[in-house]
Amino acid sequence: MRNTLTTLNNMKQSGDKITMLTCYDASFAAVLDAAGVDTLLIGDSLGMVLQGHDSTLRVTLRDVEYHTGCVARGAQRALIIADMPFGSFQVTPQKAFTNAARLMAAGAQMVKIEGGETMVPTIEFLSARGVPVCGHLGLTPKSVHTLGGFRVQGKTQTQAQALISEAKMLEASGAAMLVLELIPAVLAREVTAALRIPTIGIGAGVDCTGQVLVLHDMLDIYPGKKAKFVKNFMRGTGSVQGAIEAFVKEVKAKSFPAAEHSY
Ligand code: KIV
Repeated sequence: MRNTLTTLNNMKQSGDKITMLTCYDASFAAVLDAAGVDTLLIGDSLGMVLQGHDSTLRVTLRDVEYHTGCVARGAQRALIIADMPFGSFQVTPQKAFTNAARLMAAGAQMVKIEGGETMVPTIEFLSARGVPVCGHLGLTPKSVHTLGGFRVQGKTQTQAQALISEAKMLEASGAAMLVLELIPAVLAREVTAALRIPTIGIGAGVDCTGQVLVLHDMLDIYPGKKAKFVKNFMRGTGSVQGAIEAFVKEVKAKSFPAAEHSY
């Protein structure tokens, strides 16, 4: 049976960690599903790890739609989340809904939207019309040029308070889940405790409700620079299946991420 929002909310209530990996095709989707990964994200990271670009900005709606269909055909159990690419959700809530509807029709059960307060009307519009939304705060790669590079966010007291208040706004506007990327572990813990919805961390410490990594990073097949929060799960496991199983086991046991992967 497919995981649902209720499954994820119950996991937050019971303290059972949620596992998420990015995924872009049917074969990997089947392997991840069999290893017990709870949610699969068709991330716009595909622009970097599949297409070879140096950012996520050139990924199109058609790209995410195509890869969402591939993943949906390969996974029976994991909840499928499609990342709305740059330019597909920022203009008007109505346009965002039209684009989200294409990703839902391709097989997603939730869409992910980066951004804080400015995204509140869009999240309200989508969730009121049957589209569950996962927010994304902290380092938001689609804003890499306004953020001035890939760097840790929320480090000062003022930035941390702003992030907490935006997280509460996203929850109040109907967001069903929240990705927290590249923020101090203490801040992610505070945000997670302040919200009812699950948080999924990437470079945000062990106290988020769950953890996500980019598949090609944790399998050590992406040739680009690795962030400190990435662990190579191929080391010591020897097979793709073994690496995925180790990720699931370590996240559930709260041994990943360790202090060395956190800020
Ligand atoms: O695009 C992506 O893979 C993501 C994750 C890093 C959360 O947004």
